[in-house]
Amino acid sequence: MAERTRWYKDMCFYQIWPRSFKDGNGDGIGDLQGVLEKLDYIQSLHMDGIWFSPLYPSPNADYGYDVADYMDIAGEFGGMELFEQLVEELHRRGMKIIMDLVINHTSDQHPWFQASRRGLEPYKGYYYWRPAREGKNPLPNNWQSLFEGDAWSWDEERGAYYLHLFSPHQPDLNLRNPAVREEIKKIMRFWLDKGVDGFREDVITMISKPRGLPDGFPLPTARGIELYNHGPSVHAYLQEFRHDVLSRYDCVTIGEAPMTRPGQALEYIREDGGELDMLIQFDAMRGDSFFTSYSPHPFFLPKQKYLWARWQRRMDEGKAWNLLYLENHDHARVISRYGSEKYRSESGKALAASYLFQKGTPFVYQGQEIGMTNIRLDSIDCYEDVQTQRKYAGMKRLREDQRLKRVWRASRESSRTPMQWTDGPHGGFSEGEPWFYVNQNYRSVNVLQQEEDPNSLLNFYRRAMELRKSLPVVRFGSYRDLRPLSLRLHVYERCARGVRLLVICSYADKELSFRPPRGYDLRKGRLLLWSYPDAELRGNGCTLRPYECRVYLFTDKEEALPAPRAEETDLSEFYGGAETAVEESGEEMAEQEAETP
Ligand code: GLC
Ligand code: CA
Repeated sequence: MAERTRWYKDMCFYQIWPRSFKDGNGDGIGDLQGVLEKLDYIQSLHMDGIWFSPLYPSPNADYGYDVADYMDIAGEFGGMELFEQLVEELHRRGMKIIMDLVINHTSDQHPWFQASRRGLEPYKGYYYWRPAREGKNPLPNNWQSLFEGDAWSWDEERGAYYLHLFSPHQPDLNLRNPAVREEIKKIMRFWLDKGVDGFREDVITMISKPRGLPDGFPLPTARGIELYNHGPSVHAYLQEFRHDVLSRYDCVTIGEAPMTRPGQALEYIREDGGELDMLIQFDAMRGDSFFTSYSPHPFFLPKQKYLWARWQRRMDEGKAWNLLYLENHDHARVISRYGSEKYRSESGKALAASYLFQKGTPFVYQGQEIGMTNIRLDSIDCYEDVQTQRKYAGMKRLREDQRLKRVWRASRESSRTPMQWTDGPHGGFSEGEPWFYVNQNYRSVNVLQQEEDPNSLLNFYRRAMELRKSLPVVRFGSYRDLRPLSLRLHVYERCARGVRLLVICSYADKELSFRPPRGYDLRKGRLLLWSYPDAELRGNGCTLRPYECRVYLFTDKEEALPAPRAEETDLSEFYGGAETAVEESGEEMAEQEAETP
């Protein structure tokens, strides 16, 4: 078969969590009508495609990640006809569409589960059913749900326990059963035949459970995860999906991969023989936490830079491709975590520049581009999300106010508040009563206001996106962190023969005086992107203002300056492949930044 084009490498994607994006009919729930209204906006961000969080009919125990019908579009989102119109419209614009594929589990309302609990064939063996064990503890094993609590619930009708790695309303499918895998292939073909361009595969690393479902290591949380994450047959199943379905279509596949090291990632996404194209790995979100954001520590920049650099290097060496992101529907807002709400716009720009010029395919999550921040609701009863509720319940040892503070910091519901379009009622999200609280900062943080301000975060995203696409070095160059130990600066270079891009991002809320790393003379560079309008030099250095960021280009080749989009051409020939131009040891890291008085 011919080499795949891997068009996704030249693209940027926008993630939509449909319920909160834009309500088109006034019922308070975001929908596809709303998305259609906003396609010009999405395109104005230089996005080439959209990943939709689940659009399927669902009882919404986990907002769409509990699917009740895999082959339809929920009525509240506008139904199938509107979806088909959307696919057509996106393709007319030359844009791609990626569907969420949730196949580790279904909703407990799915007809398969309803039939399975009654013991009806062929569905009887579609899920993991186990009898109660003799003795004091009747549970089949000691696994825990990733949403806290036991991973087993009792079903009266069947008279057995069923496994659910997430909420009790999300029973795990038994992929060991070939009939279940055939169902999954049918679902894939159904959407690919409708014209979708690929899938984001939910918790795909967890779809294979070990034979006999043995007890897990007695961890305090997520017990059993070492057994079912990267389970014994996960690669065999994914190979089968690739061979039987995906290889017959020109589509992209993205796997969600919690708790995954780069070495493990390569087994999924190596270009020679991997089963998927990219992974959503969680190291991008560990700069302030150990396991999940509910086990927090203060944001520590050197750790995050180490994680970034590690993935950049390992995927490059292993001939695989990174997916770059700062936010999605599962994490609190990044400005509230890694940046500063006081310097909201400035820190939003520094964060954008920190990740957008790395090597890989960037994803931007709705609202990230205008710097939406965490919501802080007065009581746990105001929160809707099952994970937030259960994490809160699990924090038994903390005081009430400490628990709530943790929720403010970590709840993924902070990234699910309605999109802030205007300073009008409900932030312009809906003409009715929105399904969830709008962050009250919508009066000052909204799209309309930022459209009008040339120096807004929104317009910075646009310039950054446009720039990244115009520079082949961003696609092909090597990545190197030039100040890995700096506590307050992320300074990195991207190099391809003769061309060097230098990205400088301050994470300090004070001024810093900055001198470039050896081998760089800022006076000889061309400043291509900046976050403060009057970015000046003082000799070969400058004062960086709070969270200031700058991108410089160094080249002797004029061709490297705004070149045509890389599209499907392989420009590595033009650059002679990735090569590091500056001979300087990465270990040499005199802390050069000093606070100015
Ligand atoms: C993934 C989804 C998350 C969901 C979970 C269970 O992590 O991104 O939102 O709750 O899987 O489907
Ligand atoms: Ca609606």
